[in-house]
Amino acid sequence: GVPSLQRVTPSMLKAHNGRRNKQSGQVMPAWSAYQGKVYNITPYLPYHPGGEGELRRAAGKDGEKLFNEVHPWVNWDNMLSECVVGILVPEPYAEE
Ligand code: HEM
Repeated sequence: GVPSLQRVTPSMLKAHNGRRNKQSGQVMPAWSAYQGKVYNITPYLPYHPGGEGELRRAAGKDGEKLFNEVHPWVNWDNMLSECVVGILVPEPYAEE
């Protein structure tokens, strides 16, 4: 079916770094942003031809620059279309 996209703020993206969260003790999924979309890269980690460690460098952040430095010919959007979790939106701010 049509996936429902969530709005992901930069701080939410940063929290999804694939590492253990010190407060909750849970291992966070690894998310990475590419062209304004946020992907769960966790299921792809064991399959990445460049190795899990390399892919993890993009976890919790925008991975576009790293990705394009290494393999601009690879079609991220096609490969991870099933792994889209949402769209990147600005951080909400409180009015002073
Ligand atoms: C290789 C996919 C992110 C580093 C590859 C290859 C694919 C791929 C398909 C094989 C390319 C080829 O042989 O032409 C992806 C996808 C990514 C991603 C879908 C994003 C979700 C990254 C990131 C890095 C990285 C963020 C580095 C920080 C590498 C390296 C190789 C590689 C170094 C070369 C491995 C080798 O030839 O020995 N990746 N990649 N990748 N990737 Fe990625």
